[in-house]
Amino acid sequence: MHPLLSLTVSGLLALALTLEKDSSLDCVPRKYVPYHNRLIMKHGLRTCGDLSLGDNAHLFREEGVFNYSIMLLREDLNLLVLGAREAVYALDLNDISKKLSSVKWEVTQKQKENCKNKGKDPETECKNYIRILHKMADDKMYVCGTNAFDPECDYMSYADGKLTLEKKAEDGKGKCPFDPFQRYASIMYENYLYSATSMNFLGSEPVLMRSSPVSIRTEFKSSWLHEPNFVAMAQMPESEMSAQGDDDKVYLFFSETAVECDCYNKLVVSRVARVCKGDLGGQRTLQKKWTSFLKARIDCPVLESQLPYIIQDTFRWCGPQQRWKDCLFYAIFTPQSDTSDLSAVCAYRVSEISRVFAEGKYKTPVPVETSFVKWVMYSGDVPVPRPGACIDNEARKAGITQTLDLPDRTLQFIKDRPLMDQAIRPIGDKPVLVRRGPTFTRIIVNQVQATDGEKYYVMFIGTEKGTVLKTVNYDGDTFIIEEVQLFQSEEPINILKFSNITGQIYAGSDYGAAQIPLATCGRSSSCMDCVLARDPYCGWDKDVGKCIFLSDSQSELIQSVKEGDASLCPDAEPFKPMNRSIWPGGNLKLHCHLPSNLAKTTWERDGSPLTPSTRLQLLGDGLLILNASESDAGLYRCLSVERSRADEYTTTVAEYHVGIGPTGSGRGNPITPQAQVGGPSVTGLQIIVGLLVVSLLALLAWNFYNGHLPLPWNCRKQNREQSQDIHIHGDPNSGVAYQDAPRTALAEDKPLVPGTDNGTGNNHHTRGEAAFSAAEESETDGPKVTVPSLQYIDDESEI
Ligand SMILES: *[C@@H]1O[C@H](CO)[C@@H](O)[C@H](O)[C@H]1NC(C)=O
Ligand SMILES: *[C@@H]1O[C@H](CO)[C@@H](O)[C@H](O)[C@H]1NC(C)=O
Ligand SMILES: *[C@@H]1O[C@H](CO)[C@@H](O)[C@H](O)[C@H]1NC(C)=O
Ligand SMILES: *[C@@H]1O[C@H](CO)[C@@H](O)[C@H](O)[C@H]1NC(C)=O
Repeated sequence: MHPLLSLTVSGLLALALTLEKDSSLDCVPRKYVPYHNRLIMKHGLRTCGDLSLGDNAHLFREEGVFNYSIMLLREDLNLLVLGAREAVYALDLNDISKKLSSVKWEVTQKQKENCKNKGKDPETECKNYIRILHKMADDKMYVCGTNAFDPECDYMSYADGKLTLEKKAEDGKGKCPFDPFQRYASIMYENYLYSATSMNFLGSEPVLMRSSPVSIRTEFKSSWLHEPNFVAMAQMPESEMSAQGDDDKVYLFFSETAVECDCYNKLVVSRVARVCKGDLGGQRTLQKKWTSFLKARIDCPVLESQLPYIIQDTFRWCGPQQRWKDCLFYAIFTPQSDTSDLSAVCAYRVSEISRVFAEGKYKTPVPVETSFVKWVMYSGDVPVPRPGACIDNEARKAGITQTLDLPDRTLQFIKDRPLMDQAIRPIGDKPVLVRRGPTFTRIIVNQVQATDGEKYYVMFIGTEKGTVLKTVNYDGDTFIIEEVQLFQSEEPINILKFSNITGQIYAGSDYGAAQIPLATCGRSSSCMDCVLARDPYCGWDKDVGKCIFLSDSQSELIQSVKEGDASLCPDAEPFKPMNRSIWPGGNLKLHCHLPSNLAKTTWERDGSPLTPSTRLQLLGDGLLILNASESDAGLYRCLSVERSRADEYTTTVAEYHVGIGPTGSGRGNPITPQAQVGGPSVTGLQIIVGLLVVSLLALLAWNFYNGHLPLPWNCRKQNREQSQDIHIHGDPNSGVAYQDAPRTALAEDKPLVPGTDNGTGNNHHTRGEAAFSAAEESETDGPKVTVPSLQYIDDESEI
């Protein structure tokens, strides 16, 4: 190869890698737990004895039944009630693979016929998809289904181990969607159903409705709801200890086409809306409609994204005291356009949302030109009582004790102006997590007190690939502890629930339901792995020599979630090397699985580092020796080098005595090399190099085009080099660069050391000169995020 050419190539490579390194968005989960491994563990086929098999995943699915998309936790009955297509199940909350009872709810032939005649697909749309499952005050359950595009609700009870539908056949219009593919939201609050869905066959009449003796709903006006996509609902007991005598609220999260956007194309924005529990509608104006429906834009600013991200799910987190002012909403956002594969999580204070509705300014429509309307901040007089406010002490003092007493002026104002001027901003004005990869679908958040006394929020995020990501943000440093594959096929997680009674997470998809614990600490078999996992639920118990769940232990555990400081770990027992032998000229693979995706492998032979070459190839899962000769004999050691904030730790993962000749176990079976590194012709090389240059230039251009830089999220700088898609190994002799086999996901719970019976790693760590500066790390907070540039006019006076 021409030296100049090779210089150019390596320069470009370096540049490309630097750019890619900046991409903290690719944040690799420290462990990846594949589906089959879990199953193996479940059936106890594992040989490695020190994993606790008891707390592993459980699955439920029934042959021929699909769309497991609604769950009700009946902790009082120790049940998980699971709704699927045409069926409801009662499962054991502690082990959902145990079905206790089930009830079918199928559409009749006549209903199916009707549905088909209206142009719907008889095999998909004309079925009964269970969409609503709530507990009633009398311990019964309220259940609704799409019922072949004719929604229906019913009451269901569980007694003597049996689920029973009462067959009351209540009209489900406005409660449950007609269309099974349409998103909706509902909650049961003080025995009234609050639902957000479309109330007609065409799906053109969206409502937020309360089904009470006097049903209250939204107006059919595009300024109220404009082609909405409902996401979630939550109630908030804001009357508690309220000095103003405020009412409880129901919040609704959704996205809709923006009416206020001063733009040509349709723009979708995320919203939060809320109503007051005690709302009875107006007397003449807004009769049987909400007088307290207010909405605001909710922002999650991702990079310099021009288009606002769209809300997909929210989780209400409240502390153990359940004081509403401490509550948070965590929300998932995905891009508006398909050009990006980022997903984000933002967190919001309920008190902040509440404040915007209680004190913020309104937007008002102002006609400009002939048919065009601009939405601007309203700066005129606001009527009293304040439009959209709940009935409070001040209103009561003025003789207004219910919304029916509200004056027309207040009602007319809110009828025309339900939108707040101010948008809701996330805590810290930026997302808590942004990640490239499988789209996020659902989220739950749990708080845990680690051994350092601090409380951490742990996010469990479902993805469209059937995995759950477990993520913690340690002082702005995003760390993905693990990614667990819950379902065999890559199907979206469409529901996630958490029970603090069982401490289990429940997930649903089209093909089944799954249950996992908050943590499976036993996946770490060494102290080093346990501590570097930085899982706030897990710590190493020196006395029993196991990684265990915090609350299961009375003794002091070794844990260091913020720093990943494993210096307190005891030295592990020395290794018993395995014996391997090969014939001269033969091939041998020495297996070595690292417990972490963030660790790098290095190999030693007889104590000195091994340089990979065409004959000694480093693979993702081991070392390949080709065309062995006498000089290949020796003691091989596979080392895992993992850097945390505290230090760089080196552990021995495997050791092999390799002899030449037919001694030992003789398991040196021939292996065909995977990477073709023979002796390609010079022309071939030049072509490859040329192609490399072109693709690198494309990669660079793509990086810039997509604006992946600069990147404000601090995702383990030291891990970034692990997160590149391309891994390049250079052969110093030939100057040939070739691409490694695709990074294989680490199956961390294979026996780490084949042949060792104690299963503990040998952890002599190298401390000192390469000490990693934690201070430096935490300073790189990155540039500030810019607000999405929606074109708003701030004030009426600007027109
Ligand atoms: C129901 O599950 C099937 C998978 O069998 C899927 O193709 C379909 O889209 C799902 N329907 C809904 C409404 O989610
Ligand atoms: C579950 O949560 C409730 C409300 O936060 C709390 O009172 C209760 O102690 C929790 N139970 C467990 C087992 O943690
Ligand atoms: C490897 O071979 C040596 C003798 O060559 C023997 O002492 C040792 O026990 C063997 N180790 C294993 C794990 O079989
Ligand atoms: C294997 O190595 C020997 C020298 O040790 C060499 O003569 C031979 O050509 C090599 N075979 C292959 C296929 O590279």
